Amino acid sequence: VANGLAKTPPMGWNSWNKFACNIDEQTVRRMADAMAGNGMKAAGYQYVVIDDCWHGPRDAGGFITYDAKRFPSGIKALSDYVHAKGLKFGIYSDAGRLTCGGRPGSQGHEFQDAKTYADWGVDYLKYDWCSTGTRNAEEAYTLMADALRETGRDIVFSMCEWGTAKPWLWAANVGNLWRTTGDITDKWDGKHDYALGVLPILDLNEPLHPFAGPGHWNDPDMLEVGNGGLTDTEYRSHFSLWALMAAPLIAGNDIANMDEATRAILLNTDVIAVNQDPLGVQGRRVRDDGDLEVWSKPLADGSRAVILFNRGAATQTIAVDWTELGYPASLQAQVRDLWSKKTLGKMTGRFAAPVASHGVVMVRVSP
Ligand code: GLA
Repeated sequence: VANGLAKTPPMGWNSWNKFACNIDEQTVRRMADAMAGNGMKAAGYQYVVIDDCWHGPRDAGGFITYDAKRFPSGIKALSDYVHAKGLKFGIYSDAGRLTCGGRPGSQGHEFQDAKTYADWGVDYLKYDWCSTGTRNAEEAYTLMADALRETGRDIVFSMCEWGTAKPWLWAANVGNLWRTTGDITDKWDGKHDYALGVLPILDLNEPLHPFAGPGHWNDPDMLEVGNGGLTDTEYRSHFSLWALMAAPLIAGNDIANMDEATRAILLNTDVIAVNQDPLGVQGRRVRDDGDLEVWSKPLADGSRAVILFNRGAATQTIAVDWTELGYPASLQAQVRDLWSKKTLGKMTGRFAAPVASHGVVMVRVSP
């Protein structure tokens, strides 16, 4: 994107998955404190993003205000607070008349709103697609991208039109990330009202791998890790697969109250390094044997991140041949398990491991 931002997938936290409209300045401050102090900032998490429902009405001049009950100190003070922690601050709006939560949208106020955000010190804008009527998505997102650029401030632009207008075909120069699917929900599989479990989102996002790259990423929606609807094994799979797909790693749980398993997932720096690899290639499925799958992502140093993924109901052994990774069968490569954090040694031609039901084995294969 022309703004030069998000050379690697954005990492941070967003209020929606856990708090929805039940958001206020105290909660946001608590999340910023947590991110700065619990190891997340050191691991690369950076953006603290308020999703829907922070808004007040527009003032007489048409400028957006904030909900003064929920944000009595104001958004600028909150942004200053986040910045003082060495973190970045994000906010949410919508390309239509109203946001999905029924607050004022930015339609007709794009330049005014961009200026307000810049004045508040906003570093990241998530821009939704409710109440847009017959608006053309490319036109609407380009208009807000222009307005953001006009402010002169570095603002990551997160496009949230759910893949309806195939943004991967036109948005690489408009936004830094675009949603590819409907909303995620804290379930393993299936469709739940308008939202989707982890598996259907995974399968919708995977084929779009050719369209991702530094500065412009496919966004299969924010993480549900730690929200309680999946097993720890499933959350580990969710995080591993999102990391391998070069998806934005935006935590969506209460990061101030995490159990050990949740911390160990969100803070796995080996898995994060795969996500943040400077080559910026979205990994993909290289073999699909029904319930048993092999996924691979090429990395800048010539290694591959590899996931063995078992969708089945019982533990099964999955093997990957080096030729499936684009290596010669005769190659000797070091294999490191990114969850046990053990170097498994040099292997020639292939690697195989038992994989738990709904689980992954994730390794780095280094020639
Ligand atoms: C839409 C988006 C969600 C969230 C809500 C807020 O559903 O896709 O990610 O921002 O709106 O109302």
